[in-house]
Amino acid sequence: MNLSEKALGISQSPTLAINAKSKQMKKEGHDIVGFGSGEPDFDTPEYIKRAAVEALNEGFTKYTPVGGIPELRSAAADYIAESTGVSYDANQVMISNGAKQCLFNALYCLLNPGDKVLIPSPYWVTYPELVKLCGGEPIFVPTNEKEGFKLKADILEPFIDDKVKALIINSPNNPTGSVYPKEDLEEIAQLAIKNNITVISDEIYEKLLYDGEKHTSIVSINDDMFDRTIVINGVSKSYSMTGWRIGFIAGPENIVKAMTNLQSHTTSNPNSIAQKASLVALTNPLKDETVKEMVDAFLNRRNYMLNRIKNIPALSCSVPKGAFYIALNISGTFGKKLNGKEIYDSTSFADQLLENYKVSVVPGIAFGSEEIVRISYATSMQNIEKGFDRIEEFISLLK
Ligand SMILES: Cc1ncc(COP(=O)(O)O)c(C=O)c1O
Repeated sequence: MNLSEKALGISQSPTLAINAKSKQMKKEGHDIVGFGSGEPDFDTPEYIKRAAVEALNEGFTKYTPVGGIPELRSAAADYIAESTGVSYDANQVMISNGAKQCLFNALYCLLNPGDKVLIPSPYWVTYPELVKLCGGEPIFVPTNEKEGFKLKADILEPFIDDKVKALIINSPNNPTGSVYPKEDLEEIAQLAIKNNITVISDEIYEKLLYDGEKHTSIVSINDDMFDRTIVINGVSKSYSMTGWRIGFIAGPENIVKAMTNLQSHTTSNPNSIAQKASLVALTNPLKDETVKEMVDAFLNRRNYMLNRIKNIPALSCSVPKGAFYIALNISGTFGKKLNGKEIYDSTSFADQLLENYKVSVVPGIAFGSEEIVRISYATSMQNIEKGFDRIEEFISLLK
């Protein structure tokens, strides 16, 4: 069959091959330790599940308004107002099938062919693909480990020209766990205003913060930023609801209207039952406790991992302040060999670790960096201990 240029332009996820290999090995009975997870390992809380059961029993099983039921839009508006410090009306908010569809909607409604979108690197694997799908050109702006992978205005500025339409900010960040401070966001906002750039602020990990870190949304910097920022959030990561597929977008009314029109022809409303459950996730008095329990567990695991990494020669990392990932620098292993096979990039590292020590990690090339692999602490302490014992032995045998 002849496929469209658009379809042919979508790259296969570089994580797929190693994921497939790790799944196959598991199936064959190997005891694999998986550090590849992109979702909390906790179950969705009971009080949220109960709301879904009630919705089902009440027959809440029909189409809803395309942009979500009014109660959920209003709760999402309050939720985003609380997390950003900026107030939104319900008509400036819409509900989509996960933060991923929010991003697609936003990019589709913003980009004309050839528009450039600035993406700080390392980046979440989906951003460049969505930009290309929407006719834009992804432009990668490097951040570095020494500065905790934070985006700096002086590094960003040379990448700006009159084809740049948008900038994607993701703080807390996947895969680095970096959290952008207010001062840096103020400087970035100045550049956005001066150069008429729209900012898409992906704040999906905003509740998962450590070491007293505070979340700042770039939309809160000043009124000008309100007019040029699209905020994206959702229930997936904060309430362990990745499978429910509910995300929300807040932004100026004209783009919310355009995105609602788009969604009306692509997917219609997000799942009615999941909307009812998400309403409870955002409004139940237990919600802060739910987040705290997860954050406490993630913090423990992160600290354990950081301690182990410190004691393994050839490995290093910057301390992640949010989300549940560590960008592990593996460049100290390049040029070394195990059983005659050399490690020379993130894929050869991940391959050898999986093949010989049954630990799966995500090669950094998926995120635009060969120097790192991403390890997730959204897995049990028992797995983490076992995985690090294996990684330590693997590194000690490299010659
Ligand atoms: C940075 C980032 N944004 C968005 C998403 C997508 O979230 P959702 O599952 O709500 O579509 C993810 C999921 O991994 C993510 O890491």
